[in-house]
Amino acid sequence: MPAGDSFYITTPIFYVNDVPHIGHAYTEVAADVLARFHRQRGDDTWLLTGTDEHGQKILRTAVANDTTPQAWADQLVESAWKPLLETIDIRNDDFIRTTEARHEKAVATFLQRLYDDGHIYSGEYEGYYCVGCEEYKQLDDLQPGEGEFLGALVCKIHGRPVEILKEKNYFFRMSAFEDRLLDLYETRPDFVQPASVRNEIIQFVKQGLADLSISRSSFDWGIKVPWDESHVVYVWFDALLNYITAVGYGADDEQLERRWPAVHIVGKDIARFHAVIWPAMLMAADLEVPKAVFGHGWLLVGGEKMSKSKLTGIAPAQITDTFGSDAFRYYFLSAITFGQDGSFSWEDLSARYQAELANGFGNLASRVIAMVIKYFDGAVPDAAVDAPIAELERSVTVAANEAIDRFAVGESIAETWKLVDALNLYITEQEPWALAKDPAQRDRLKAVLATAVHGLGTLAILLSPVLPQATARLWPAVGGEGEVDAQPIHEAYSWSGHGTVTALESSLFPRIETVEDAG
Ligand code: MSP
Repeated sequence: MPAGDSFYITTPIFYVNDVPHIGHAYTEVAADVLARFHRQRGDDTWLLTGTDEHGQKILRTAVANDTTPQAWADQLVESAWKPLLETIDIRNDDFIRTTEARHEKAVATFLQRLYDDGHIYSGEYEGYYCVGCEEYKQLDDLQPGEGEFLGALVCKIHGRPVEILKEKNYFFRMSAFEDRLLDLYETRPDFVQPASVRNEIIQFVKQGLADLSISRSSFDWGIKVPWDESHVVYVWFDALLNYITAVGYGADDEQLERRWPAVHIVGKDIARFHAVIWPAMLMAADLEVPKAVFGHGWLLVGGEKMSKSKLTGIAPAQITDTFGSDAFRYYFLSAITFGQDGSFSWEDLSARYQAELANGFGNLASRVIAMVIKYFDGAVPDAAVDAPIAELERSVTVAANEAIDRFAVGESIAETWKLVDALNLYITEQEPWALAKDPAQRDRLKAVLATAVHGLGTLAILLSPVLPQATARLWPAVGGEGEVDAQPIHEAYSWSGHGTVTALESSLFPRIETVEDAG
């Protein structure tokens, strides 16, 4: 077991009504980079992802496709959601499906406990329901429909008409937790991040919390309520519990103790579920609330939130087939400030790939390695690293790590990129090819190339969470020992740097011929 602190991080579990688009992949990549960073720091890290398979949305999709919801979910998980993890190089420790027995059993245990402790009662509910959101809506959340939906009230998020539902339901006494929740946001300002999402959550709770309807009896695709099998558990109540059922709730107390609480990475659209309903559920069960809930922004296409239902979805493989998974990871995390919305464009992706990855980083690596081979037969010269570069390696290592602790992934990459830029400038200014022509400058040439190789190794260590493929090739090429992702990232600057370089068989980031091919 790693000696460090527990770092348990989760992604939302994804609805399996459709295949993944790059918005889903964005969340996965962000959580994966944070997990890899912590793993490389020696923390006892656990990355959980998975799929959300119950509820009306999945049921209706299955029926429309002439199949059962279980068969539909099985097929989508195997053909689309698990392969997504390969496509974008996610190193998850577990994958939970809400239809697995380990989850269903533990949900029943949790619910029964809340029922026995008086947190659940039965009542009637009538309201507007959006199947896209799987949520009852208030009038504020709706707007008059246009075009084919003229005359109907539509959900502001999905743009589709809501339905009026009237049901006898079981309710969770969420209103009882209003004060404790407000106190939580107050005493732990980092609980909900970023500040924009935190403010929205506080405003929402201050308006007063209603109790939450947590069962449905009009359909049966879900986990049965243990004391009343004519009801199934509300899909969000079921889904949120995955974060503890996957780490042993109700089955393995030791594992739960070791992992929980988690950091939740979610889109801001579902921050309310995670920062209001979920901690209230945990409080009711006398469990610790999450360490933090981070609500990231939306990927926009043509100014709108990308979504399959609006036909703006782009499949992750459309990007990785041309640019590779490293470029996908790098682009979305460096071009978009984590926590804000950002627009995707092929032009921007292509320009950054060429300027930053291919010319900035990839060329630097090829040139430096080629010169060490040419002038020193591959043996990294035994010389001290030039002081300004050594100092920069140290300071960017500290800053890149510190940014990660604030979920500022883009800032962490930008800090590291200062070293890429500085090394490129250093090579241009020092002109090792000119030094090589003058035997009197042999010692200087040694120092320059030893410095450049050392800088490259530090870059490999610091960029390994974002660019796992490229850095796994670069590290042995600059004479690094062992696996790059096992090098302590908080001390990246202190690697030895005196091995033997080997030529890269091909560029780390090969030239992409045309942008049109990619689109
Ligand atoms: N099943 C629920 C989550 C349950 S968690 C206990 C759900 N699933 S979802 O598949 O609709 O979306 C999950 C997440 O995908 C969003 O929270 C967000 O992280 C991500 N995204 C979906 N579309 C997105 C964009 N256009 N942009 C960025 N992220 C997006 O909600």
